[in-house]
Amino acid sequence: MTEATDYSINLTDPDFLADPQPYYDRLRAQGSAVQVGPGGMWSVTRFDDVVDVLKRPEDFSSEPSENDRESLFENAFGGANIIGADNPKHNRLRSIMQKKFTPNNVKNIDGRVNELCLALLDSVKDDSSFDMVSSFSVPLPVTVIAELLGVENTRIDDFKRWSNGLVTLINAPADDEVRTQAMAEVIELAQYLSSAADKRREQPADDLIGHLVTAEREPGKISSGEVLSYCVLLLAAGNETTTNLIGGMVHALLDNPDQLAMLVKDPSLIPNAVEEGLRYCSPVQGLFRTTKRTVVVGDTEIPANSRVWVSYAAANHDPSQFENPNKFDITRNYRGHVGFGWGLHFCLGSNLAKLEARVAMEKLVPILNHLQLDGPVEYLPTWIVRGPKALNVKRI
Ligand code: HEM
Repeated sequence: MTEATDYSINLTDPDFLADPQPYYDRLRAQGSAVQVGPGGMWSVTRFDDVVDVLKRPEDFSSEPSENDRESLFENAFGGANIIGADNPKHNRLRSIMQKKFTPNNVKNIDGRVNELCLALLDSVKDDSSFDMVSSFSVPLPVTVIAELLGVENTRIDDFKRWSNGLVTLINAPADDEVRTQAMAEVIELAQYLSSAADKRREQPADDLIGHLVTAEREPGKISSGEVLSYCVLLLAAGNETTTNLIGGMVHALLDNPDQLAMLVKDPSLIPNAVEEGLRYCSPVQGLFRTTKRTVVVGDTEIPANSRVWVSYAAANHDPSQFENPNKFDITRNYRGHVGFGWGLHFCLGSNLAKLEARVAMEKLVPILNHLQLDGPVEYLPTWIVRGPKALNVKRI
């Protein structure tokens, strides 16, 4: 057994956040699980080990730690959510929504996503330069999920504001004032969703809130707090991630004109390019588990009750799994990336995310050919989700 610790690596350091890949290379070289900062967290970075951890929910719990439980966010909605639940709770909650996100069910919204993409691009058509993130990749997923949940047209702008508050809170801002403001937005969101659910308790509706409220009638299926948590989770899990995938892919394509030229010539490569985007950009860099007992991962023993950071991004760039992993290659055989996780908690919204990204790319690719980056690209300074903060582009 190896016992690796490397406190020279801290997952919250600005250098790590600016460019994590060289750190992932160092961690993979040191062992299956390496203790790092902050707080001696165990990081798992090799592809085979990441899959092994994700396949063993009986050893690695997804439930929030004691500290998380005390945080405002974990308690704000009064119910568990599937991403932070172990079985049997997890399967009970997942079974309610599983069918709503199958490829067949999400394909119905293809036309609406098309319309939204066209409208967003129309709003910048006269600008010689614009930010692709704030004008396109942020509003698209939030509008899609708002409409699926059943948020009224007149409240979409409020919903976007609340969603920004939620994203801010998830990214744990250090500034007290920013945190208080974000919490106020999230409380408004909770109040809105709670009254939207009440309306559907009186008058059923064919939207996701209505679907959850219907499930509530079945004894033991879902509590009213869990209905609220589910809506917030769909918003939290589906927005910034999809924004970062679209933004990350635009950045990768502008940086790799040969790959962009291939897509312009043959748009049928777009679905494969989206899979490569999920691998290459890894919009979710890593998430947490807690060991339920003393466990062995590869060559390392991890004590019971340890916090483990499972890095999808490091696994997706493991050279033992992907040849030349730091190359963005839209013709790659992408099979086996862990951009959406693996096993029990595999992303519920993966088909929706892929549809949004595919339609977005179908609309963006012909335009990207006439755009170039206008200045350096800075990435969001978080170690959970990763994507460009802004993508300033100018027409050429
Ligand atoms: C590019 C976009 C997306 C990425 C990269 C992504 C990534 C992930 C990952 C890595 C997980 C696994 C979490 C774990 O192992 O604990 C996950 C779970 C989940 N995702 Fe996504 N996601 C995306 C979009 C979406 C969308 C659009 C939705 C829904 C609207 C969604 C809803 C969920 C939910 C509900 C879970 C929890 C599933 C469970 O615990 O069973 N995601 N996602």
